[in-house]
Amino acid sequence: MPDPIEELRRRVAEAEALGGRASEERQHKQGKLTARERLGLLLDPGSFAEFHLFAESRSSDFGMDKRHSPGDGVVTGSGRIGGQLVFAVAQDFGTLGGSLGETHAQKIVHAIDLAMKAGCPVIQILDSGGARIQEGVRALDGYARIFERNTQASGVIPQLSVILGPCAGGAVYSPAITDFVFMVEGLSKMFITGPDVIKAVTGEEVSFEDLGGAHVHSAVSGNAHFVARDERECFEMIRKLISFLPANNLDDPPLAPAAEWPPEENPALDTIVPTEEKRAYDVRDVIRNVFDAGDFMEVQERYARNIVVGFARLAGRPIGVVGNQPSHLAGVLDIDSSDKLARFVRFCDAFNLPIVNFVDVPGYLPGTHQEHGGVIRHGAKVLFAYSEATVPKVAVILRKSYGGAYIAMCGFGLGYDRVIAYPSAEIAVMGPDGAANIIFRREIGEAADPEAVRKQKIEEYRRLFAKPYTAAGQALVDTIIEPRFTRRELLRAIEMTSRKRQQRPDKKHGNIPL
Ligand code: HXC
Repeated sequence: MPDPIEELRRRVAEAEALGGRASEERQHKQGKLTARERLGLLLDPGSFAEFHLFAESRSSDFGMDKRHSPGDGVVTGSGRIGGQLVFAVAQDFGTLGGSLGETHAQKIVHAIDLAMKAGCPVIQILDSGGARIQEGVRALDGYARIFERNTQASGVIPQLSVILGPCAGGAVYSPAITDFVFMVEGLSKMFITGPDVIKAVTGEEVSFEDLGGAHVHSAVSGNAHFVARDERECFEMIRKLISFLPANNLDDPPLAPAAEWPPEENPALDTIVPTEEKRAYDVRDVIRNVFDAGDFMEVQERYARNIVVGFARLAGRPIGVVGNQPSHLAGVLDIDSSDKLARFVRFCDAFNLPIVNFVDVPGYLPGTHQEHGGVIRHGAKVLFAYSEATVPKVAVILRKSYGGAYIAMCGFGLGYDRVIAYPSAEIAVMGPDGAANIIFRREIGEAADPEAVRKQKIEEYRRLFAKPYTAAGQALVDTIIEPRFTRRELLRAIEMTSRKRQQRPDKKHGNIPL
């Protein structure tokens, strides 16, 4: 009889080794870490508690009964990040390419189920060739169960996905359902079908990187929210993101420990927003000068850069921050920025993060490309998302605020709680040039000197609307402030709305224009 303790130790060591020494070396040679090394970087030291260490594949088809699959190629468990309980999943590419079989799926489903019961975030680290081909429909059923769990958990617990290798097929749909996707330059790939299949079906030749690398998904498709230079930086970013988030939809976001906050008055803000209506500036300079120092974490930095979204803190309290970006496409709203914005607003609303908008937007982008691409439907998502949000909604109008973009980003009618304006704010149905051309068309057309009359009419319109006082006089702006007092005003706005409770009619769910 072998010593039971010795046997246990041997079995634990074997199971913990996953794909073994060779696969560890292969991962390292490709510049990748192993599943356990990744969990070591993600979680607080010594906090990991593993589930189903000894589980293996039950499949016997295609010689699977002769292959050993320790843990069935995935490590699952709970741990802590900065003291906060989280649940985590890490696939091992060294075991059958991290492919997802029945047992592998069962382990992931169990981790999500426990995360839901505990009301804690779940983080999936993916490095997988997708559905395990040898297990056929059982592998597909495994994915179905994961997608269903991801969907049920959406809006209840934060779900993060980390792509750390070539992820194919089902391995990319689960991340797409979750809240945030992280990728690493040169290492992460996401695609439904790989280059070989694409070539066979369409004849198109493309590399893995050009098909689904970090650049493609962060800047072109918008599927990725964060990009890191290496795995170490990636896990630091995940830990930082978790520090902004509540454990679940019933909790408040965590307050940062008291610190020496920046002063409430900041003269630097007086000169960041140019008074000339067409001069560009970086709205992130405003954001950095208002919130707690060094705390801004931008989401989808490379995608639809005409809108900036991210997390910041105000006296330690996490806030969802939105800013039109005049330095890119003049900060217009278009199809991609509408999608980015609406999704971010819905995340903040689901997880009790107050939303602060910095508004400087000329409106929606005109043109056939946008109209035919469905800017009506995509733009409507922004209206829908803000209208349904019940978290505190505060707007600071920095400069231009025209048309539908005004309604979406600072219209009281949409349920904004506080609308603050700078003296440089312009609030109107459209910009002075367009407006004067329409309402004074006849006068301009019939004038002896049409250009002179056009200029004069534009000026007339500008005098009335290119200031916040007309809107303030109609109680559609709460207060007009010197920019230097923005932090003070936001502290008050967040304080006065901090106990906000708003009920919506009972329904199964709304029908956001997807
Ligand atoms: C079983 C798989 C596998 C899979 C990889 N492997 N993918 N085993 N099922 N889906 C195995 C390989 O056979 C190999 O085993 C080991 O993993 C490493 O794979 P390599 O090809 O040697 O690695 P690499 O060259 O790095 O290429 C990685 C890869 C490639 C790009 C991921 O393996 C690949 O294209 N795999 C198939 C991807 C795919 O089309 N998946 C879609 C599945 S359909 P050995 O024993 O040789 O080491 C799907 C449907 C769900 O997921 C859809 C839901 C909506």
